[in-house]
Amino acid sequence: MSVVIVGSVNQDVVARVDRIPGPGETVLGSSLSRSGGGKGANQAVAARRAGGADVAFVGAVGTDADGAILRASLERDGIDVSGLAEVTGPSGTALIAVDELAENTVVVVPGANAALARLTDVQRIVVERSRVLLTQLEVPVSLVRDAAAARPDGAWHVHNAAPSAPFVVAAEDLLPGIDVLIVNEHEALEIAEVADRDAAVAALAARVPALVVTLGRHGSLVVVGEEKVPVPAYTAHAVDTTGAGDTFCGVFAARLAASGRHPEDADATLLADAARWGAAASAISVTRPGAQDAVPHATEVARLRQESE
Ligand code: RIB
Repeated sequence: MSVVIVGSVNQDVVARVDRIPGPGETVLGSSLSRSGGGKGANQAVAARRAGGADVAFVGAVGTDADGAILRASLERDGIDVSGLAEVTGPSGTALIAVDELAENTVVVVPGANAALARLTDVQRIVVERSRVLLTQLEVPVSLVRDAAAARPDGAWHVHNAAPSAPFVVAAEDLLPGIDVLIVNEHEALEIAEVADRDAAVAALAARVPALVVTLGRHGSLVVVGEEKVPVPAYTAHAVDTTGAGDTFCGVFAARLAASGRHPEDADATLLADAARWGAAASAISVTRPGAQDAVPHATEVARLRQESE
């Protein structure tokens, strides 16, 4: 029951500020912290802490000190990093500002994440063992395409089109290999190139077997063919929303793997159940600072679900 995440890993450098500065403006921060991040690595940590599945991460770190720190951190979580390559140069870094309302701005300098255009032989072997392949777009599109082609028959490809700009350019290439597309509302509008949410959902749902649109505090919408299932959010007092979407995706993928079902059996009930678990985990994650640091373990998520029933 393996979840394989192909994606980015970053050292997050996070400043807490009262408010996010505008262009040309300087503000004083109240604290600075460094922690593991990157959409791919955050999703791997979320999938692993969800329990019920072996998790492997495929990506690249640099030859700097951050590379060793990021690798060790994933290993401590019990994630298989045999597919984590080391490439000459710096690791990925994200400069993040988080304000008093828990909103953030993020600047990612990809470093090693941009270096792999194709899977290495070792990475291909890892992907060939997947039951669920989970990808995003902080790595080259060609790597995502390669991974989708390398997954075994019967394995799911869950794609989180974040950030969405590369997806807009490469949609025709990527869409045929996707079983479940996960986007937030902003990404849905950008990819569908429309201004209205319902129109975006209709346009995207027509192009993939299954679609999940996350809507922040309004929950998410699961669409499989003609069937649409709204999944409510859990209430939470947010202090930092960084990585909340990644937590949702990682837990969602772990639940699909644990179900033992194949993409041909996908139905809205199965995907909505996975989305409920993802929603509970992301609700907990926003109550804590940081990306990977904030990802909850399975017992905490189960408790929240029980308390909310
Ligand atoms: O989605 C949150 C992540 O985006 C951060 O951890 C940061 O590294 C950027 O990749």
